[in-house]
Formats: sequence, structure tokens, C-alpha cells
Amino acid sequence: MIHRFRVDTWIWAFFFVAFATAQEPSCPHGLSANDIAARSELDLTGNTALITGGRSGLGYAIAEALVQQNCTVVIASRSVPENQQAVAKLQALGGDVSYAIFDLEDFSSVEAFAAELTANHSRLDYYFGNAGQGGSGAQPLTVDGYERIFQVNYAAQFLLIERLLPLLRASGEPARILLTGSSSNSLACGSLGMAAGNFQPDVCFDSNSTSGNAMSVLPFDQTGLDAVNSTFDCPPLAGTYPLTKFLMIQLAKEVSRREAEAGNPVYAFSWAPGNIQTDLNPWAACCVGPVEWFGPTCRYQLPYVGPTDDLGNPNPPDPPVPNHWSSPAHGTMSALHAALHAPVTEAGNFYAAYWECEANKGFFPQGMTEQGRMELYEKSLEWVGITQAEEQQLAAPDMMDIEDGAEEVEVGGGEATVAKQEENEDVDNKALESSSDGATGVPIGVSHYSLVLLLAVKLFY
Ligand SMILES: NC(=O)c1ccc[n+]([C@@H]2O[C@H](COP(=O)([O-])OP(=O)(O)OC[C@H]3O[C@@H](n4cnc5c(N)ncnc54)[C@H](OP(=O)(O)O)[C@@H]3O)[C@@H](O)[C@H]2O)c1
Repeated sequence: MIHRFRVDTWIWAFFFVAFATAQEPSCPHGLSANDIAARSELDLTGNTALITGGRSGLGYAIAEALVQQNCTVVIASRSVPENQQAVAKLQALGGDVSYAIFDLEDFSSVEAFAAELTANHSRLDYYFGNAGQGGSGAQPLTVDGYERIFQVNYAAQFLLIERLLPLLRASGEPARILLTGSSSNSLACGSLGMAAGNFQPDVCFDSNSTSGNAMSVLPFDQTGLDAVNSTFDCPPLAGTYPLTKFLMIQLAKEVSRREAEAGNPVYAFSWAPGNIQTDLNPWAACCVGPVEWFGPTCRYQLPYVGPTDDLGNPNPPDPPVPNHWSSPAHGTMSALHAALHAPVTEAGNFYAAYWECEANKGFFPQGMTEQGRMELYEKSLEWVGITQAEEQQLAAPDMMDIEDGAEEVEVGGGEATVAKQEENEDVDNKALESSSDGATGVPIGVSHYSLVLLLAVKLFY
């Protein structure tokens, strides 16, 4: 009897702890970006968001969710008619929306776009670095001399962030950078053939590694492409896409670290949508059906989120929207979580919709260290042609001078910094408070799983 009593006590203690620490997922499967935005209960009137690639796919879903919270939205990419159509649709929802045209394949276009945005806006509160291109195999070099995917998905993104930072720092509120990563970050080394032979994937990006180092083959200009092919003996090049997404996740971490170090209230996060059918990823539809038919490509397939019959089966059985299993609205839950829910104390984190926005789940470091991230940042400055002197001026200007009637905001020190930090703490607290209401992901006391387990144990005993 005594023994039995002790076992019971332990079981109850275990479930007491499970009760106290149980968490609801931040982005439960089945919800949309609109749902996650609405749960924030934030009124974003007066805030401005820039969404690159906002005319289509995931970017459009983000725009729709932000418009719903009264945020002013600017979308930007290359094609005029498509941007105009997207603006018209978003305006029909009541949004204050405009568009800009620029091309990530050309650094001079990025520079001109950033300058124009800075001239026309006094602040930027949210920047979604979301535009991107897919593709595998050899890609042409851009006018700037880089492999196209590498430039569009990383190098030009880096340049744009550098140029937008002053506007983000001028927000007057904690500003956020949200970078679109991908679950494919796990393949950063492997897709280039770097995991072959004696190369160790877990130290792939470790610049001190003697067994091989992915950092040494960057950037992917002609020299880098030659280096990867000869060093790692992996022709044909499988593709730089997963690598660029890995670098974007690292960039969010390093930008956050640098801005915190400088005392600037700018916070960067990265996120991933899952495997979503869009123009960039028309093959996602292949994942409709039993996952095992399609092997590892369906790893990040999300659960069905469309209409169901009484038995929970898709209804209609052959959904009119292919791959309705994972719509852009569903995949961008994690973007809205990072933008509107994640506390700024979690800046640098990666959130994947597939993992219901559990911080950093689905992120594979592959040997990248904090030191490595710093090195990467310095190298990236060189790649996009920003000198050390210019960077120092950008990183800690005495006085920022935003053109066209924008207020001057002192960022480097003094009272303005203190005021911003206090504001920042307030907003941080707000984020923490809002995330403890059970709607957004922090402890609510009891999860459904815990209840079922508890009942099962009681029945057993
Ligand atoms: N779909 C997925 O399964 C998936 C998974 C993980 C991550 N992602 C990422 O999600 C982001 C959005 O992709 P999506 O799936 O929503 O596909 P999408 O609808 O094709 O969106 C890509 C957007 O990028 C813009 N863009 C492409 N090249 C550009 C350039 N050179 N300069 C400026 N803008 C450019 C495109 O607009 P224009 O043609 O007008 O330039 C388009 O709006 C990408 O970064 C992608 O890598 C997607």
C-alpha cells in the first residue's frame, strides 16, 4: 500500500507540473494570418509596413492581415500591373495601400528604391523582407556579378535592410524586421553537395572548421560558384536557395544583436511558411495525398485547413483550390506571430508555421556561431559595396536626417534613447501580457493533451 501511495504521489506531482507548464501552440494549425493578427488586438493605425513581394502569394496574405489591423501598407516588387491589381484588392478591403517598383537583381535599383522610400516616409514600423525567387541548378549572374538566387534572396536583401535601418530606427516605437526564411534552411549544406565525403554538416558554417567551410565559398559570384564545384566536387550545383534562406535566418539574429548593442529599438525575426503552393512553388501541390508517396519533399506539409465533412474529411473531397492543405494565409501565421505577438526579448528567433511557431523549432544551425554571424555581416557589407566608414555612419549617426519634413530623431545617445528604451520596455511588457492570455501561446494552465493523459492515468489506476 505504501509503495502504491508513493507511485500515485509521483504521478500526481508529474501531472501537476505538466498542468502548470502546459502551453497552447502560438499558431495552432488551422488558423490563418488574419486570425493571428486579430488575436493581437493591436490597432496599427499610424504604423507603416513595407512588404516586398506583397503583390502575390505569401506577401499578399501578410498585407491582407495587416490591413485588417489598420496598418498602412506599401508593397514592392518588379511588375507594375500585378502590383496595381494587388493594391486595388487591398484597398477594397479598406486598406491604406500603395506600391513601389524595384528589382532585387540590381543593387542600383535597390538603392534608388530605399532612397525614395526614405524621402517619402518619416518612419517605418514593419519591414517584411519577403520577395524571393526559387530555382535549382545553374543560375545566370546578375548585373552586379552574383548568382541570381543568391543576390535576390540574400545579398540585395541585406543591402535593403542596411538602407532601411535609419527609417526603422525613426519609427518612434519598437520597429520590426521580418525576414522570410524557409524550412529548407536545414538543407543549406547538403543542397550544395557540401555534406559529401568527409565534410561534416554540423560544422558546415564554422569558419574554424578544418574539414570544410561553407563560408569560404561565399559569395556566389563566378569565383564562389567555381569554388563550390571544385572544392566539394558536387556538379551540377544543386541550388543556392536553401543556403540563402539559411543566411536570412542568420541575418535576423545578427541584425537583432547589432541593434540591441547600439541601443536601437529595432528587432529582427525570421519565419517560415511551410510548403505552400504559390507562383514560386507550384510543385507544392504534389504533396496533396499521402505524404509518404512523395518522400522527404513533403516533410513540411501542413495539415488540411479547408472545409471538412462530419468525419473531418476534406469537403469537397477534391478541393477546388489545389493544395488547400496549406494556403498562403495559413503559412503566414508565423509571420504575423513574429510581427505582432513575439516579445521583443525573443528578437532573432525563427518561427515556422509547420511547428506552430515554437521558437527556433525547425532551425538547423549547421555550425554557424555568433562569431560566424559577425563575420558574415562584415563580408556582406563588402559584397554590397558598403565601406566600413559608411557603415559606422549608418550604424551610429549623431543625428539622423530623414528628408522631406520628417522629424529628426536622436538615436545615438542622450534623452531620446532613454525615452525610446522606456517605450520599448512598455511595448515589450504589452507583448508579454498579450501573449499570456492564452490566445497567443504562452501558459494557459492546461492543454488538451494533458487532460487526456490525466484521464487515461486515472482510468488505469
Ligand atoms: N511558397 C513556399 O512554399 C515557400 C516556402 C518557404 C519560403 N518561401 C518564401 O516566401 C517568399 C514569397 O514567395 P511566394 O511563395 O509567396 O511566391 P511568389 O508569389 O512568387 O512571391 C515572390 C514575390 O517576389 C517578388 N520578386 C521576385 N523577384 C524579385 C526581384 N528580383 N525584385 C523584387 N521582387 C521580386 C515577386 O514579384 P514581381 O514578380 O512583381 O517582382 C513576387 O511578388 C519568398 O522569399 C520565398 O522564398 C516560400
